[in-house]
Amino acid sequence: MTEVHASCAGLPDKRQVAASFSRAAASYDAVAELQRRVGTQLLMRLPPALAPQRWVDLGSGTGHFTRLLGERFADGQGLAVDIAEGMLQHARSLGGAVHFIAGDAEALPLQAACVDLLFSSLALQWCGDFARVLAEAQRVLRPGGVLGFSSLCVGTLQELRDSWQTVDGFVHVNRFRHFEDYQRLCAASDLRVLSLQREAQVLHFPDLRSLTRSLKDIGAHNLNPGRPDGLTSRARIAALLAAYERYRDADGLPVTYQVVYGVLRKPH
Ligand SMILES: C[S@@+](CC[C@H](N)C(=O)[O-])C[C@H]1O[C@@H](n2cnc3c(N)ncnc32)[C@H](O)[C@@H]1O
Repeated sequence: MTEVHASCAGLPDKRQVAASFSRAAASYDAVAELQRRVGTQLLMRLPPALAPQRWVDLGSGTGHFTRLLGERFADGQGLAVDIAEGMLQHARSLGGAVHFIAGDAEALPLQAACVDLLFSSLALQWCGDFARVLAEAQRVLRPGGVLGFSSLCVGTLQELRDSWQTVDGFVHVNRFRHFEDYQRLCAASDLRVLSLQREAQVLHFPDLRSLTRSLKDIGAHNLNPGRPDGLTSRARIAALLAAYERYRDADGLPVTYQVVYGVLRKPH
């Protein structure tokens, strides 16, 4: 049977359309999968007997965990806080919390001592001043209140970092805080550390393009080859592809995320 390669009557080649959607589906699923896995892990790490009167989903994004928190703590009042109005709009339409508020984790738009649980999954890697985040958590939590967070640390995207290193010797990957910085800053805060751990999560992608496209959703944007200066030549991209291919295994191209899980309590 003869395969049809050309597009007909101005329609795009269906095989290209299918391939493009397949690549996108794989990366979307993988990204959502990481967020779901990590947030679910964080939920499981919260102290078992929590019954917050008021809880906050900080950096709530599309509100997946806002809705889960709403179900789990149905007797409490839920607030979703995110710095991105577009995310809040999306989350608001799906419910789960009483209020959806625009705000920054480094300057929370909340009164002192009014929150029993501050939950934050994969948002705080965006915050440059983590000590400030902890100070804000300490301020808004009631005595005995809990901060549970997940974030990313050094070691995240190591394969991409090392691949670029072999191409031109430069670091093209966003810098993440060291796990030891999380340890130091949490220990120096006025919150008591109940647990603080690092765990690797590995995702797989069919190719480098789908891999880099997924990164911005995780808080590692501007990593695409050639951004932001647009100077990346075809030769450098080809070298990057070749370097990254060395990591390929039976499941595809691996991307390692080093996830930090922290649970801290404000002393009575
Ligand atoms: C990767 S998404 C995670 C969303 C959600 N927590 C989840 O796990 O599905 C990160 C979210 O953090 C928000 N964010 C980034 N920096 C923030 C900040 N300084 N304060 C509050 N939210 C922030 C982003 O707008 C985005 O919605």
